[in-house]
Amino acid sequence: MSSEMTAYVIDEYGDPDVFTERTVDVPEPGPEEVRVEVRASSLNPVDYKIRRGDIPDFAPEFPAVLHCDVSGVVDAVGDEVDRFEAGDEVYGMPGGAGRDGALADYVVGHAGTFAHAPETLALADAAALPVVALTAWEMLTDKGTVDVDDDVLVYGASGGVGHIGVQIARWLGADVTATGSTEAKRAFAADLGADATVDYTETDVGSYVDQYADGAGFDLVFDPVGDDHLQTAFEAVRPFGSVVTTESSSTQDISALHANSLDLGVVLVILPVLLGERQERVGEELADIAALVDDGAVEPHVDERFAFDEVSDAHRLGEDGDFVGKILLENE
Ligand SMILES: NC(=O)c1ccc[n+]([C@@H]2O[C@H](COP(=O)([O-])OP(=O)(O)OC[C@H]3O[C@@H](n4cnc5c(N)ncnc54)[C@H](OP(=O)(O)O)[C@@H]3O)[C@@H](O)[C@H]2O)c1
Repeated sequence: MSSEMTAYVIDEYGDPDVFTERTVDVPEPGPEEVRVEVRASSLNPVDYKIRRGDIPDFAPEFPAVLHCDVSGVVDAVGDEVDRFEAGDEVYGMPGGAGRDGALADYVVGHAGTFAHAPETLALADAAALPVVALTAWEMLTDKGTVDVDDDVLVYGASGGVGHIGVQIARWLGADVTATGSTEAKRAFAADLGADATVDYTETDVGSYVDQYADGAGFDLVFDPVGDDHLQTAFEAVRPFGSVVTTESSSTQDISALHANSLDLGVVLVILPVLLGERQERVGEELADIAALVDDGAVEPHVDERFAFDEVSDAHRLGEDGDFVGKILLENE
């Protein structure tokens, strides 16, 4: 094996054209780490937010290799790794924030941030899952709970996190109301299994609470958007209900939490990688998610595919927002 590989690096923050294809050394796995030959990655908003310099605390050191999601084949294992061996097909969230990520021929990460890939999915497509599926899973089974016949409102239902959220909420037995800003996004959410869809740009909160939550409010509101959505979530949820979100860094009026005795749950999915703590939980959750995929309960939707050397185009599309589900990048 060559000691060098191709990586797509950024030397500074910038627009989508800031990526450079470069030959770099293949990284070596340390204790508790594995090296994975990268088959694919996918685009998450965190990748372009880091690229732009919106969240410098999350960036690896320059020159930085971005992208959190990966699928591929284990190539080498470090000391103290017994869950994987060379040749295993895996998916995971090893880096791309805090440490180098997946936009290269090989990535090294803590073994705990990987799981065996779902058996019923093409290995490349498994890279569409880690960040969004871990996020949706933690929102619905850790930060919130969903019982059979609960009324669940899913904002951003056509996006990466939302489209997995709809499927997991349905699998948990909820009645799902999904929002989408366009006809195409609402049709996509209905195809995923949403029981009802709402054009939130034209409908006020009271109307969809009356129509889809008996006027009482939703048992749980799933918010992968934040800002205005987080505020309307507080209006849409019933007394004693739950709001789960990925974005609470905005300034909000939280008096509704007090007035209605609400639970507010916040997920920051990448934190185990940033802190180097609780990384095993990532792999355990990915194993649960792989089982859901293999049971037919969850399927990622890949809207567009790009090669690694087209990463700039992938970022442009992601930032434009003119897609549903996920944007995949394949290492050809
Ligand atoms: N904290 C965490 O751990 C965590 C984890 C994953 C993602 N996130 C964050 O959660 C958000 C959603 O992630 P995602 O992967 O689902 O993104 P995505 O695939 O780009 O989808 C975002 C969806 O949100 C809706 N939206 C509403 N207002 C928006 C706006 N101003 N800009 C962009 N989208 C808007 C859009 O649907 P409509 O057009 O129908 O409104 C869109 O489909 C991102 O901000 C991401 O950084 C956080």
